[in-house]
Amino acid sequence: MHFELTEEHLAVKEAARDFAQNVLKPGVIERDNAQRFPAEEVKQLGELGFMGMMVDPKYGGSGMDTLSYVLAMEEISKVDASTSVCMSVNNSLVCWGLEKFGTEEQKQKYLVPLAKGEKIGAFCLSEPEAGSDATSQRTTAIDHGDYYLLNGTKNWITNGSSASIYLVIAQTNVDLGHKGINAFIIERGMEGFVVGAKEDKMGIRGSDTHTLLFNDVKVPKENRIGEDGFGFKFAMKVLSGGRIGIAAQALGIAAGALELSVAYSKERQAFGKEIYKHQAIAFKIADMATEVEAARMLVYKSAVDKDQGRNYDQSSAMAKLYASKVAMEQTVEAVQIHGGYGFVKEYHVERLMRDAKITQIYEGTSEVQKIVISRGVLNA
Ligand code: CAA
Repeated sequence: MHFELTEEHLAVKEAARDFAQNVLKPGVIERDNAQRFPAEEVKQLGELGFMGMMVDPKYGGSGMDTLSYVLAMEEISKVDASTSVCMSVNNSLVCWGLEKFGTEEQKQKYLVPLAKGEKIGAFCLSEPEAGSDATSQRTTAIDHGDYYLLNGTKNWITNGSSASIYLVIAQTNVDLGHKGINAFIIERGMEGFVVGAKEDKMGIRGSDTHTLLFNDVKVPKENRIGEDGFGFKFAMKVLSGGRIGIAAQALGIAAGALELSVAYSKERQAFGKEIYKHQAIAFKIADMATEVEAARMLVYKSAVDKDQGRNYDQSSAMAKLYASKVAMEQTVEAVQIHGGYGFVKEYHVERLMRDAKITQIYEGTSEVQKIVISRGVLNA
């Protein structure tokens, strides 16, 4: 396997790092405390071209590769995973799904403003009784000729109240199992569509996670994505790429914890010397750095698989499984290295530890990733 970061990749990484350190970091603790969505910051991300990074410039995007996207996600997630999940959903679930499978009309109407960062998108699959088991959708979209009538509830929807364009997965024919599922584009403001309660979360508290309610929403026929019955495969394909983004988020959280731990261990004195001079701390740092680098290799490899046209279902699941485990374990270590300071908000690592957990849950739990990986490995 061979991949090198080009000058362009390094420039994207630097721009994302600069934005994260100088724009996101100053307010990140306050946004986490207040559970405040980073509206102004996301707007600026859009202006910098980070909300439609992989979209063709003819649709308002930046025309970059997946590796560039991963590098940007990593730098932003080192500081603010609430902002990076908004960016990830918009880029790899909504924009990619519309560009790959949408009609020209859908692209002009919906993809262009999303890719420019003028509007925010959301991806609506999970339901109260359908999380990992994604075929058990209860939301229905019944065919009424020139429109579908959408009814149901979606849960834990990222960008729930900040979005204005929603990709909603629903059953159109219960008897057909996964072949009776379709994906639809729903606009904020359609009659019968209500943004429900906001979740009070342990982590990514700046991200707005909501329940969405659909009561007899009339969805024009032209808002269906792909052929009739394509919705489940659409969701699976979109999520395969989405997992690269969340793997990059997990990598960033772990790498951020490592950077903070290295800096702290050189400042903090104990028993007459900086704590990094104690082997107990130096060995922790060595383990963290090794785990972060191993996760980075899996994440970059999956991005390059996608860029070079190889199947990435398995490599994205591996990257997400491993990077999220590293994020969870190594943020706990970062808190330990910081001692009492690690337990207070000012030092950032406790937030990274809380944010890490969701990377093992959303866009498929670790157990879902193991289903995907084992099926691939066993060819079954
Ligand atoms: N690409 C294309 N087609 C695929 C596919 C893929 N990656 N994966 C499955 N399919 C196809 C299969 O080939 C099959 O089609 P055929 O019958 O024509 O062969 C069909 O889809 C059904 O596949 P399975 O039998 O494998 O389906 P399953 O019910 O066993 O599901 C699963 C497997 C992997 C557990 C899947 O349900 C899954 O990924 N669940 C997790 C869902 C998830 O990630 N939810 C996250 C919500 S979104 C979110 O979190 C966003 C956010 O807020 C950040």
